[in-house]
Amino acid sequence: MPRLEELVTQWPAGALPMTLAERTSRVYDHLAAVYPLSTMLFHSRAHRRALARSGVRDGMNVLEAATGSGEMFRRLVKVNPSGATIGFDLSPNMAARTGRQARRRFPAARTLCQAVDARQMPFRNETFDAAFCCYLLELLSGDDIARTLAEFHRVLRPGCRLTLVLIGQNTAIFNSVYKVAGRLAPAFWGRQVERRVPELIESAQFRLLEDHFVRQIYYPSRVLVAQK
Ligand SMILES: C[S@@+](CC[C@H](N)C(=O)[O-])C[C@H]1O[C@@H](n2cnc3c(N)ncnc32)[C@H](O)[C@@H]1O
Repeated sequence: MPRLEELVTQWPAGALPMTLAERTSRVYDHLAAVYPLSTMLFHSRAHRRALARSGVRDGMNVLEAATGSGEMFRRLVKVNPSGATIGFDLSPNMAARTGRQARRRFPAARTLCQAVDARQMPFRNETFDAAFCCYLLELLSGDDIARTLAEFHRVLRPGCRLTLVLIGQNTAIFNSVYKVAGRLAPAFWGRQVERRVPELIESAQFRLLEDHFVRQIYYPSRVLVAQK
C-alpha cells in the first residue's frame, strides 16, 4: 500500500485565476467555526444518502473535495478505517479544521486534509477508488465545473464512482429565495446548477448510475452517483 504522501503530487505550476474563488475562500475561512451547524441542519441527510449509495468499502483510496468543516469527511474515515481518506478545501481554515478533527476522532486511520483548489488537483492520474463532492459546484463558474469534473475523471481509477451532492432545484419557493441570497452574497451562496449537472457529468465521460432527491427541513438536495 503506498504511503499517504505518495498519493499527493506537487502543487501544479501556474495557479488558476482566483476571481470569485478568492472571496469564496475568505468567506468560508471566516465561517469555519460555525459552519458545522448549517451542515448538521441542512446537509446531513443528503450526506448519509450519498454515502449509502456510493459503494465505498473499507480499504479504498477515497477522496473528498471541498470538505467544508468535515462532517462528510468523518463519515468517510469511519467506514474506511484501513484505507486512505484524503480531503481538501479551498479555505485553509476549513481544511485545517477537518484534518484536525479527523485525526482526533480516528487517530489510527490514514487521513490527510489540505488546502487545495478542486480545479487543479495535486494527485496523480487514477489514484482514487471513490470520490465525493458535496455542495461545491454551485460555487464554480460553468467552465470551472467542467474543469473540476475533468479533474475527478483524471484522478479516479477506471470503473470507480464519483458521488455528487447538489442543491436541488425542485422547489419553486426555495429557488426564488436562493436567487436573492445568491445575488446578495455570490461568494457564499453561488447559484443553483443542479439541473444542468447530469448533462455535464456525461460530457465529462461519466455514466450516471443513481439519482435521488432528498429534503431536510425545507432544504432540497440531489444526490448523483456516476461511474468513470
Ligand atoms: C457549501 S460548502 C460545502 C461544504 C461541505 N462539502 C458540506 O457538504 O457541507 C462549500 C465548500 O467548498 C469550498 N470551496 C469553494 N470553492 C472551492 C474550490 N475551488 N476548491 C475546493 N474547495 C472549494 C468552500 O471553501 C466551502 O468549504
